[in-house]
Amino acid sequence: MSAQLTPILSEFWDAERSWTLETYEQHDGYRALRTALAGDAADLVSAAKESGLRGRGGAGFPTGMKWGFLPPPDGGPRYLVVNADESEPGTCKDTPLMMAAPQFLIEGMIITSFAIDCHHAFIYVRGEIVHVYRRLMRAVEEAYAAGYLGKDILGSGFDLDITVHAGAGAYICGEETALLDSLEGRRGQPRLKPPFPAVAGLYARPTVVNNVESIASVPSIVLHGADWFAGMGTEKSQGYGLFSLSGHVERPGQYEAPLGITLRELLEMAGGMRGGKKLKFWTPGGSSTPIFTDAHLDVPLDFESVAAEGSMLGTRALQIFDETVSVVRAVSRWTDFYAHESCGKCTPCREGTFWLKQILERLEAGQGRPGDIEKLDDICDNILGRSFCALGDGATSPITSAIQYFREEFEEAMHTPWQETFPAGRNTLFAKESQPA
Ligand SMILES: Cc1cc2nc3c(=O)[nH]c(=O)nc-3n(C[C@H](O)[C@H](O)[C@H](O)COP(=O)(O)O)c2cc1C
Ligand code: SF4
Repeated sequence: MSAQLTPILSEFWDAERSWTLETYEQHDGYRALRTALAGDAADLVSAAKESGLRGRGGAGFPTGMKWGFLPPPDGGPRYLVVNADESEPGTCKDTPLMMAAPQFLIEGMIITSFAIDCHHAFIYVRGEIVHVYRRLMRAVEEAYAAGYLGKDILGSGFDLDITVHAGAGAYICGEETALLDSLEGRRGQPRLKPPFPAVAGLYARPTVVNNVESIASVPSIVLHGADWFAGMGTEKSQGYGLFSLSGHVERPGQYEAPLGITLRELLEMAGGMRGGKKLKFWTPGGSSTPIFTDAHLDVPLDFESVAAEGSMLGTRALQIFDETVSVVRAVSRWTDFYAHESCGKCTPCREGTFWLKQILERLEAGQGRPGDIEKLDDICDNILGRSFCALGDGATSPITSAIQYFREEFEEAMHTPWQETFPAGRNTLFAKESQPA
């Protein structure tokens, strides 16, 4: 096995009380902040650009470039908002990071705020994960007590406050402009862009919105240098990232590795498929990214290679499904999620996801009507690129890709319930009846 893990953010997750400031400081914690505060803010933006760090929240936008989009300071407030909403099925990297080592995020936020001249930063965390909310509150409290937050941080003259805000638990509030509306106290629905948050974000002021993992990676770049970070990964997808393996693998969990690692390599590290079963399909980046099959085991998991094969790296949420699973049923469950989470602002997604759900429910039950498969494709075609935000696009990905790779299974589902086609699959996905409402 040639691939190596690169435990940086996950280096001491198994340490005793890994989440405390004391443990963090024992592992170089807050050394990067001292270096950053002693230098020039503009150099930090340059370092972020040179490192090649790209947003870890899904879209992969270059982080340093995003910081550079802020207009010059005009004396008014500028904000950093950390997106900790993490709600996509399969995506589970920010939550364990914030539970196990929240100070990476806090230190990254202080450095980023200094770089962009922000004095009030926010963490918007998904409200359902109360344990993470509590852990973040405690981490912020510890940072204040140690002089890393508040007035005149480490005698540098730089002031910063951090507010942890718990959302009410809606997938759409992870979309950055819906998040800002929600943070302002409004119903979380996406805003029309432009203006982009860099120009008019929180309270219509210049705002940087970044993912938890993006910001948590910043201290390591300051500490070890942009070249060190850029030396990992591939030419255009640099650095390391958390790969979350879930589903039918022997050892599911977070594997921190350079971008460009393959699923075959990750599966070897994870002990292979559960019970030695055959891999059937998987998502490279969460449920909103087109599925892959066993033909894609050697695709390098970087932004470009995954896109070249017709999917997206997304959040590196690798959900693994074995041969006992009905792809129709899995896709139907994801579609339930999208129909439920559609915010209703635009017609293609609001109506379309509901129609998709109705057809998929028929197919699950083996009661398809003539033309149903074509209708699925047609509805997806009318949602994709015509929705107000990327939630609508994401809802179509699992369906169109599943039809592309497993059309015969959809044809079988026209007349045969999934339980008959996949008798061994009864226990491999939760029965719909047993899912929480
Ligand atoms: C429906 C939807 C949900 C999203 N959920 C998240 C999320 O939970 N966390 C996140 O960082 N980005 C999420 N995003 C992407 C954000 O809009 C945004 O691109 C990201 O926070 C930018 O940070 P980054 O550049 O550091 O990746 C979501 C996007 C959409 C359309
Ligand atoms: S695509 Fe869906 S989630 Fe996005 S604005 Fe339209 S209805 Fe809302």
